[in-house]
Amino acid sequence: MSSTDLKAKWLENYKTAPAQLEKMGKINGLISAFNANVDAVIKVSGEGIQKLVVDNNLNIDSILKDGERSIRTNEDAIRGFLNCFKNGIAEEWLIEDVNVFEWLNKNVGYDKMQMGGQGGIVANVMAICGVKQVYVHCASAPKEQGQLFLDLPNLVTTNAHGELEQAFTVNRAGENALIHWIIEFDKGDQLSINGETFTCPKANRFIATYDPLNFKLHVDENFDKRMSNKDINPEYIILSGYQMLHEELADGTRGADRIDESKEMIARWRKSCPDNLLHLEVASTQDKVVRKHLIDSLVESVDSLGFNERELIDILEVIGEDELAAKCEAKTNSSNLFEGMLKIYEYTKCPRMQLHMFGLYVTLQEKGFKVTPLQNRDGMQLAATVAAAKAGTGAINTKDVLMWAKDHKVSDVGLGELEALSEKVKELLGENDLMSTGTFTDEKFEVIAVPTILIDKPVTLVGMGDTISSISLVGAR
Ligand code: GLC
Repeated sequence: MSSTDLKAKWLENYKTAPAQLEKMGKINGLISAFNANVDAVIKVSGEGIQKLVVDNNLNIDSILKDGERSIRTNEDAIRGFLNCFKNGIAEEWLIEDVNVFEWLNKNVGYDKMQMGGQGGIVANVMAICGVKQVYVHCASAPKEQGQLFLDLPNLVTTNAHGELEQAFTVNRAGENALIHWIIEFDKGDQLSINGETFTCPKANRFIATYDPLNFKLHVDENFDKRMSNKDINPEYIILSGYQMLHEELADGTRGADRIDESKEMIARWRKSCPDNLLHLEVASTQDKVVRKHLIDSLVESVDSLGFNERELIDILEVIGEDELAAKCEAKTNSSNLFEGMLKIYEYTKCPRMQLHMFGLYVTLQEKGFKVTPLQNRDGMQLAATVAAAKAGTGAINTKDVLMWAKDHKVSDVGLGELEALSEKVKELLGENDLMSTGTFTDEKFEVIAVPTILIDKPVTLVGMGDTISSISLVGAR
């Protein structure tokens, strides 16, 4: 089939998106836990950062040296920024000293605040897509946090008295806002330090995160109690936030113990709706001990995993697949990444997993999984449509914008990746028609692949992965 014909075929496949969105309104309950935070977004210039370095007399050698990806000094914050700026990449480093947090607050500031954290972002997306009751966990919920939730009656959290209240109005006064700086920079901008000039190759962002509560996966006890009640009926539970844990936490306890405790807690939440679906959004987990424990211990109880290409490679690294990880790193394409997914399936036996990469989403699941291949495809198409609306308009805060991209055609990049995947599936599993149907089944597996709509000049990319994973699953009906 020619590329024009394929695009016409996929435009036809995508036509189910509005109907899938309607179906999300039939879902009674969904829990999104654990991490909601405040994203303080600021656009900086190379010149501004240069001035910051000079005015504060920062130590140049400490800024230019290689080192750990964490922030203990003011210089570390600039070092992390420079690393992203000069390579045009996105990274998130954790601020481990409150003094650096205060210094950034005073000297860098922010332009605007928006909802941050996978848990918070997913909750807003699910609520605007019409899920009847969305329960969102907040480690901290002062007014600054509450107001970042959409003003919708179907989006609730626990207030200071332990009662469920609309998240938008909740004000657990006395709790501190948890701030993540999203420091954005432009392509082509320049920064000179010590006579050396760095030119930024690609617009991107550096995230500097100060979040003592989510760092230890702090759980609001009231929320835990409430979610264990019979009336909650969570048909879906979407988990994230483990990525901020460390092997050893500031108070001397172990990250792995926090994971195990949460596992027991979630088992209690699941009781009121035994055939719920539990999804884990892997996210970028820097600490390898924590990452391994997640894969070895938490994943055995989850039904569905979500990751991007980087996070997939990170998983391969901790399951003894270093060689394949290196291959995926050298050539990050759907063909290598699919081999990676098969290895992750073999290792974890997780019945469903989804990769979202640039231009293509791929789901690999056990044959006969309770969400059919076609339902998955419909969910993934809905996700791609809404993600394109987010990229194209900057925000999906109102229902009318969700279908903004519904008549857009899928991208050439996506069709290219789909072709590479189809070849790989042919080599490993057998003949297939993934190019036009997006689905393949054999005795063991179901593979679902959807080329996505790409927006030329995206207004925003923060939270894209969270949006895609959650809609792909919850919209698959
Ligand atoms: C990470 C960041 C958070 C951001 C989110 C988007 O969790 O810490 O600030 O909102 O990623 O996915």
